[in-house]
Amino acid sequence: MKFSLITNKQVSTSANIILTVFSVKDVLAHPLLKPLAAEDKKYIAGAIANAKLGRKDILVYNLPSAPQRRIVILGLGEKNKWSRHNLLLAARRIVVALKTHRIQSAIIGLDDFNTRGLTPASALVLAIQNMIMASFDFVDYKAKPEGGWPEIEEISIVCRPSKTLERALNEGLTIGQEVNECRRLSNTPGGIMTPRKLAQEALAVGKRIKSVKVKVLPEAKIKELGMGGVIGVSQGSSEKPQFIIMEYGPVKKTPIVFVGKGVTFDTGGLNLKPSDGIYEMHMDMSGGAAVIHAIEAIAKLKLPVRVIGLVPAVENMPSGSSYHPGDLLKTITGKTIEILNTDAEGRVILADGLGYAQRYKPSLVIDVATLTGAAVVALGQRTNALFSNKEKLLRLGKDVGDATGDYAWPMPLWEEYDDDIKGTFGDVANLGKTRYGGSITGAAFLKQFVGDFPWIHLDIAPMMTTIDGQYLSKGSSGAGVRFLVEMAKRFV
Ligand code: BES
Ligand code: MN
Ligand code: ZN
Repeated sequence: MKFSLITNKQVSTSANIILTVFSVKDVLAHPLLKPLAAEDKKYIAGAIANAKLGRKDILVYNLPSAPQRRIVILGLGEKNKWSRHNLLLAARRIVVALKTHRIQSAIIGLDDFNTRGLTPASALVLAIQNMIMASFDFVDYKAKPEGGWPEIEEISIVCRPSKTLERALNEGLTIGQEVNECRRLSNTPGGIMTPRKLAQEALAVGKRIKSVKVKVLPEAKIKELGMGGVIGVSQGSSEKPQFIIMEYGPVKKTPIVFVGKGVTFDTGGLNLKPSDGIYEMHMDMSGGAAVIHAIEAIAKLKLPVRVIGLVPAVENMPSGSSYHPGDLLKTITGKTIEILNTDAEGRVILADGLGYAQRYKPSLVIDVATLTGAAVVALGQRTNALFSNKEKLLRLGKDVGDATGDYAWPMPLWEEYDDDIKGTFGDVANLGKTRYGGSITGAAFLKQFVGDFPWIHLDIAPMMTTIDGQYLSKGSSGAGVRFLVEMAKRFV
């Protein structure tokens, strides 16, 4: 799918036209329909007279004067209920509509993305990003149908082209593509996407992009560094753990460190998950994939920041060599973890990731993890859960979520919660004392390993997969990528 910015004068008289409108009466007043033949206008007027154009409706018409030519009209819903959410969804609906109707190229006005409250450039970034996201389908393991997969060739955006808008287009494109690359990694089955494969994917980013240095620590080195958490979780699997380190930006700058949970398959270990709980657990490396591709996006956009990405990658398996409930694991920080449940494995490997992050004396640490089912129970599937040890970062994180569509909802993390994860025989227990507030006890656990550095924990379990009505293909949603990139932008 290609995008171009064109002026009103460059609009071809044979182009398919996309319009977005709040109500039927806005259709004929639309500037892109002005040049249409009287016969066509009359036809459309008749056709839409009694049509419904709510926020989910789409009308597609062929013009009587040129039957090849199509007009696609998207309803936006009530004008006074318009929000940025609708903008993201409208962009995606356009792509879905074009694919459904096998329309290969079309034009749309930049104003149709309703820029109220946004600059044209930021509206364009969001529109492009979301169109790219909607164009993604995970078909790597499917036979190509005859005639190929439905593909859109080009969408031209009618505007007043400028350097600023060109840059916005490129930004939207880059971020959208990296979200999709993240989704590709997450969707790849656990039998293929092993810790070693995930590490290879990170190394491939370093090969593609010269400004990103990638290093992968093998098991021996992980042991030597004293990462007892990573070793413990991985030891039940025949797949060796890998610790991925990515670096971008000038060494003399104080870095931001991203830490991503890279559990390539989570069976629960000896506390084996039930069948319905194990479903989709190949996506338990989504945080790691988000870190890898957020860094690729940041490097492609040449953001003037220093960013480090850390991804402990393991497989959580039950076997004769598995770690056990009751085990006491010594982490890189020296603190020990008392394992009460082998299915709370994400926090155990992240303890070492966060401990390692402290070595960079970072200005900010952000971990991204499909950490708890409890976060899904608390929030549903339309927002990530946001935690921090700094009140100010909660506000920033919420804001970044709203701005990007990678929503983040603030959760409490008061000192009292620390009592819930005190160990009996170890320093910190990997399970709360009650079954309540599971996403908070997960966060309280992680907090023990970040020292005093400013820190954000994004539990992306709620948004791990797409849901109906988001106009995105089934499977991974690529949660975390947009959040991390925007965070880096705000930290320059
Ligand atoms: N990877 C899971 C959390 C998860 C569940 C992510 C559903 C996405 C969808 C995590 O490792 C886990 O198993 N968490 C347990 C924690 C519990 C044992 C304290 C959970 O949520 O049940
Ligand atoms: Mn688990
Ligand atoms: Zn897990």
